[in-house]
Amino acid sequence: MRSGQEIKFMKTNIKTIAIFTSGGDSPGMNAAIRAVVRTALHHSIKVFGIMHGYDGMIKGEFISVDATSVSGIIQRGGTILKTARSIRFMTNEGMKEAAAQLKKHKIDAVVAIGGDGTFKGALEFYSICKIPFIGLPGTIDNDLAGSDFTIGYDTAVNTVVEAVDKIRDTAESHDRLFFVEVMGRDAGLIALNSGIGVGAEAILIPETKTYIEDLIKLLQKGWKRKKSSYIIIVAEGDDAGGAYAVAEKVKAKFDKLDTRISVLGHLQRGGNPTANDRLLATRMGFEAVKALVKGKKNVMVGIVDKKVVYTPFSKAVKYHLKPDKSLMEMVEILSA
Ligand code: F6P
Repeated sequence: MRSGQEIKFMKTNIKTIAIFTSGGDSPGMNAAIRAVVRTALHHSIKVFGIMHGYDGMIKGEFISVDATSVSGIIQRGGTILKTARSIRFMTNEGMKEAAAQLKKHKIDAVVAIGGDGTFKGALEFYSICKIPFIGLPGTIDNDLAGSDFTIGYDTAVNTVVEAVDKIRDTAESHDRLFFVEVMGRDAGLIALNSGIGVGAEAILIPETKTYIEDLIKLLQKGWKRKKSSYIIIVAEGDDAGGAYAVAEKVKAKFDKLDTRISVLGHLQRGGNPTANDRLLATRMGFEAVKALVKGKKNVMVGIVDKKVVYTPFSKAVKYHLKPDKSLMEMVEILSA
């Protein structure tokens, strides 16, 4: 093992950076913050944390952080820097105020942890502030191009699996049909992969059209063979509506089963990050500082096939899941 002092990095002109989290929080954001702060300090770079995302940038909520500020946070969900969805930052005036605050604090570069909204904002902001940004994908939705996984996704899927396993117990005991709504306004990956993990009878996602008649056929088939419980996972952004809307449509045509609805909601965004998310966030945080030192700007750090890649913000935000047909077929065959 080599001591940290011996590990050499390239020389950099960057003296001070700022870091913030933005948009929906995700488990592992803290682990990423810790890695960024400690890697920057290793390079003798001063770090400011900005509280409450872009909103806090506008208001000047800058706090100086050191190695101790990030002690004991690797295992904690949420974000110690807090987060927000800023309406004010979307205006030219808001962006100018934010740029003035970065200048006032002599910030040479910024690390932004968030999702597509965060990176779209950063891209537009660059024309005003001219300060390089490096992005880290922090969202439970796993909906960014340029990384196999985003920070928080693995934890969210595991949280859903744990919750739905419990629902399955009670569904089995009562011979009931459950519609379970999971997060994903535009992206169905949480629904798809947690659904497979819990052996869901059907999985409804925004990326594919939902046919209620097909769902009815599936229920009728199960009814004939006296199947005792059903779990239908519904992504909140499904084209047929959320769990309540889908349940209504199904009940109107098939009322043989006692039905319940469960909306998992924000519990999917909290909790201690899984080991996978901690590893991902730590590696990405470390790489974010390396990227800045290398002179990269306006790119998201991602990991694809175990390798670090940089994707321009303009591309990272253009993710669209093309559901694997064989996976969808598998779900149908296994739910029989
Ligand atoms: O972006 C992550 C996400 O959790 C989505 O899956 C969900 O639709 C949304 O955030 C909910 O956002 P809010 O907490 O602002 O209601």
